[in-house]
Formats: sequence, structure tokens, C-alpha cells
Amino acid sequence: MRILGIETSCDETGIAVFDTLQQRVISNALYSQIDLHKQFGGVLPEVASRSQLDKINEVMQQALAQADITLDDIDVIAVTTHPGLIGSLLVGVCFAKALAWATSKKIIGVNHLEGHIASGFLDSNGTVRNIPFPHLNLTASGGHTALYVVHGFGSFELIAQTTDDAAGEALDKVAKMMDLGYPGGPVIEKLAEKHSFVDTLHFPRTKLKNNLPFFSFSGLKTAVLYYLVSQGAYDLQAGNTIADQCSDELKQQVASSLLSSIADIFILNIKAAFSLYPNAQALTFGGGVACNRYLCTRLQKACTARNKLFFAPPPKFCTDNGSMIAFVGSYKATQGNFDNFALDVKR
Ligand code: KG4
Ligand code: ZN
Repeated sequence: MRILGIETSCDETGIAVFDTLQQRVISNALYSQIDLHKQFGGVLPEVASRSQLDKINEVMQQALAQADITLDDIDVIAVTTHPGLIGSLLVGVCFAKALAWATSKKIIGVNHLEGHIASGFLDSNGTVRNIPFPHLNLTASGGHTALYVVHGFGSFELIAQTTDDAAGEALDKVAKMMDLGYPGGPVIEKLAEKHSFVDTLHFPRTKLKNNLPFFSFSGLKTAVLYYLVSQGAYDLQAGNTIADQCSDELKQQVASSLLSSIADIFILNIKAAFSLYPNAQALTFGGGVACNRYLCTRLQKACTARNKLFFAPPPKFCTDNGSMIAFVGSYKATQGNFDNFALDVKR
């Protein structure tokens, strides 16, 4: 079977083909809208959905061409139905339904978060690797930060999720405070590397709640804001960076200390989750924030110290992509878990 996976939940149009015989992604096409949203410092929903509409057919043609197949060779269409920006999701779901109807193919709706949870199975060649069940998954992106216990394909349980900002959102907002552009994660990582990821500023770390995993990042973001104000690098009233005071050294220290805090918060929660689920044998780490080499290294060390395995997909499968949706579609198809044409976007 070949599954076409369609991902349009936010500002990426990702379409990929997964082959169930080879257990491998055979094409992964992507159009990213980052350049469209850069000038606004974040994603503008109306701009995002219009761009999805412009690009979706072209990206599908690229995915088919890369796989060297035609639409006739596709058996099932899998599409993200939730969560996400409603306009962007509607483009993908309407496109998928029209395509499935016109070509008499089966359709499967996929939860975007299940895509991130499953993305750890994909290695750098897009081949499915073996990860023992049960395991933990940490998904950290611009919209989500959540920890799950994964019992099997399609069977997972939420342990904790952020009560306010997502980790990626905190990185994006801090980057905005220092006028570093969007998205913040990659540039914060580069700056932090120049300061050797040293924790000079000791920003606060959230604690566990009743010894249970707990995530919150808005306090951390506010602590950075007030530090920048105290250094004369940010004008709170005007809401902008004071460029002469926001030196390269200050940016590097903030970036390095911020990533240190985020790593400590992740590790504290992972430790607590492994105590709660001692049978969990591994941690998978997905979502855009999992592109971060420093965070991966810290989490890998924390896992090794506890005799647990650690897996993060390559960056192209960390950020939003069609491959993770096609892969979830593949195991749902194998389980006979299809949808009908009443399929719709969900809140
Ligand atoms: O998964 P994703 O592409 O989209 C959402 O579903 O949100 O994640 C985007 C997030 C952004 O917040 C971005 O700053 C962050 O991932 N990100 C990173 C890195 N690359 C992207 N965060 C930390 N380090 C990176 N290298
Ligand atoms: Zn995502």
C-alpha cells in the first residue's frame, strides 16, 4: 500500500508518500511559509490559509514526482484534521476529500499531535526503526509542549501539557524581544552555542506539581523580559528592543541561559515521568524544538543515565511535515481504521 500524507495545520504545506511494503517514506515535499510571516514576527492565520490554497496542488505534484509515481499508485489519503489553524486545516481536508472522492480512494483523518508522537519512528532515511513499547514521548513545538506515554501504534495517553506558552513559543517570543526575527529557535541555538550553552543568568525553572510532571513557560519568558528591561535592552512601554543596549554578548548570554533552563525543565519532567512509568523503555522527542542539538544531547544523556533509549527524528521530520501524517495513516490503514466522507476538521 502507498499512503499520501497531507499536512496543512499551520504555516507548512507538507505532502509525502509512505510505502507500507518497504516501511519507508519514499518522498517528502514541503513548502514553508516562513518568509511570508517573518515580517510579522509570527504566523498570520489568514495569510497562512491563502498560501496553503496556492501551494497544495504543486506540493502534491512534487511529492508524486519525487516518489516517481502517479496518483493512480496511491491507495489511501491521510490528512491532518486537528489541532491547528482552522483555515489552513480546511484547505488540506477539503483537498484530500475531493481527491479521494474523484479517484475512489480511501481516506483517513490524522491528529497532528499523533503525527509528532509517531515521528520518532522515522530515521534519517525515512525508514521505520524499532522503538520498544511502552515509551515516553515529548512533543515540543511552537504550539504545543506535551508529554505522553505511548502504549502502541495509535495508543497514547497524555501525562502533562503546558498550562500556558509552548517551549517553542517562549523561544520565538524571547527572540522577538531581542529583535532576532522569526522563528526564534534556530537563531537562539546559534547564539547560545557562542556562549557554550553556559547558564550565566539562572532564569527560573518550573517545579513539578505534587511530584507530577508539569510544564509552564510564561514565567520563564517574563523573567527574560524583565532581565532585558533591567539591562536597558528593552523598552517596556514602547514594546521594542533598544538596539544599542542589546549587545551581541547580552544576546548570547540570554540565549544560552534560556536553553539551559528549558533543558533542565524537560529533564526534570522526564525523570518524573520515568518514575511514574518505570516500564517505559525509551524517550522519543519530536516537534520543531527537537531540531535543537543541545536539547537532544541533554535529553539523551539523561536517558542514558537511567538506562533508557533516546530517539529524535531528523530535523525534516521534527518540524511539521507530511511524512509523519503518511506514517500514522499507514498503521491506521493496516488496522482497518478508515474514515468516510463525513470527515471534517476538528477543534
Ligand atoms: O513543529 P513546528 O514546525 O510547528 C508547530 O507545530 O508549532 O515547530 C516550530 C517551532 C518554533 O517555535 C521554532 O522556534 C522551533 O520550533 N524551532 C526550534 C529550532 N528549530 C525550530 N527550537 C529550538 N531549536 C531549534 N533549532
Ligand atoms: Zn506541529
